[in-house]
Amino acid sequence: MLNNLNNKSDISKIYGANYFEPDVKFIKCSLSNDLYYYKCFIGDHTVEVEAGDCVYWISDNGEIAYLERGPSVIKSKNCATVIRGYMPENKSCEIKTMTTLPYINGCSTKQIFPAERLGDPTLQMLYMPPFTSEQAHHIHSTVRVVYVKSGQGYSIVGMEDKSVKEELYRGKVIVLEKMCPHHFVTENQPLTVVPLHVWSSVQGMEHDHPMFNGTHQIG
Ligand SMILES: [Fe+2]
Repeated sequence: MLNNLNNKSDISKIYGANYFEPDVKFIKCSLSNDLYYYKCFIGDHTVEVEAGDCVYWISDNGEIAYLERGPSVIKSKNCATVIRGYMPENKSCEIKTMTTLPYINGCSTKQIFPAERLGDPTLQMLYMPPFTSEQAHHIHSTVRVVYVKSGQGYSIVGMEDKSVKEELYRGKVIVLEKMCPHHFVTENQPLTVVPLHVWSSVQGMEHDHPMFNGTHQIG
């Protein structure tokens, strides 16, 4: 099937990358084969959050992040994501200042809302200086909902000659399905994005399984 894929959006979709322009109104839900349930409200929405769930969203000016547990009703104009079955206490955090933790390739990060416990959801900020790559091409085991806070860069999705490049700029939202092969790059401008990990990973454990441990690379 992939041999017939030459259209950029077809390639993005088949690998699990969903892009939404700043003026688009859309509701993106978890897939039927997802392990965890989430619902992402892109654009102008009033969001009803049920008891037992919580919602992450960014203020209209992109300078404050919120986490609120249900039952609740919130209004969001850019991106709000409800996560089912997770209900930490209400929080808010300004996201005006620079990042605080070094990452790789000159990139840096800030934990806006750290995971309460290992493997819980987390909201992060990633700053990429000009002319860098976020990291090597990679996959995640859970969904990422990414809000582009400022700057300009590109998302690269796919494999080998079926990779496609999508421009990123303020207000754009990217939903990367689990296992979507991707990485971000910058050219002559910095890029700041706010990724929500719809459930995160237990560090060091994701490669501790029989398939990985029983595989020995040659050459
Ligand atoms: Fe990533």
